Amino acid sequence: MIHLSNQTPLGTGRHRQCYTHPENAQRCIKIIYNADESGLKEIKRELRYYAHLARYLKDWSGIPQYYGTVETDLGTGYVYDIITDFDGKPSVTLKEFADQCRYEQDVAMLREALKTLRRYLHDNHIVTMTLKPQNILCRRISESEVVPVVCDNIGESTLIPLASWSVWLCRRKQARLWARFMQQPALVAALGMSEGSQKGSPSMTLTSHKV
Ligand SMILES: Nc1ncnc2c1ncn2[C@@H]1O[C@H](COP(=O)(O)OP(=O)(O)O)[C@@H](O)[C@H]1O
Ligand SMILES: [Mg+2]
Repeated sequence: MIHLSNQTPLGTGRHRQCYTHPENAQRCIKIIYNADESGLKEIKRELRYYAHLARYLKDWSGIPQYYGTVETDLGTGYVYDIITDFDGKPSVTLKEFADQCRYEQDVAMLREALKTLRRYLHDNHIVTMTLKPQNILCRRISESEVVPVVCDNIGESTLIPLASWSVWLCRRKQARLWARFMQQPALVAALGMSEGSQKGSPSMTLTSHKV
């Protein structure tokens, strides 16, 4: 039995809390913390899509790998790669990253990260239910480079998983998802920051989650 109840979670979403694996610093454990059925349904759907990805995906740089379940004092735990920065700090979400953008260099880094994410999803035929900034982690691989990692809402409805069967439908779904994603308020605000006034100012220091 793995003890998590004495730890502060790395992050909390609508259904799940994410903890550092106490026995493996490279992994995290997600538990479902709310009582309703939808959390379990969501995770089952996501894991079915992971099984689909496991059949062909070679490049896992944009998605944490999944390693099965463990028993914890907070119930069944689902084990994934933990997403941390090059200096070992927990990576911030894209929402936090966008909210912290102050200067032109920050916005340029954000634009690069978005380009990387779009290319990754496109090249690897990956779809998500929705694409939201709080479900994407910005893994800093150096002072100036960020690799976005999608940590939630991966996959599609199992009822008719059309985008998993057809590349054409996958592309169409990706285009719709991306258009909606780019309308998210955090991204609109950061990307809409006026150029000029802040040009040449120092780049931000991204603060990490408090662990
Ligand atoms: N693989 C991971 N490594 C590090 N932090 C993570 C990871 N997955 C999720 N998190 C953090 O935990 C939060 C909640 O996880 P998430 O899977 O989004 O839960 P939910 O499905 O309830 O929304 C995320 O917003 C993120 O801050
Ligand atoms: Mg989430």
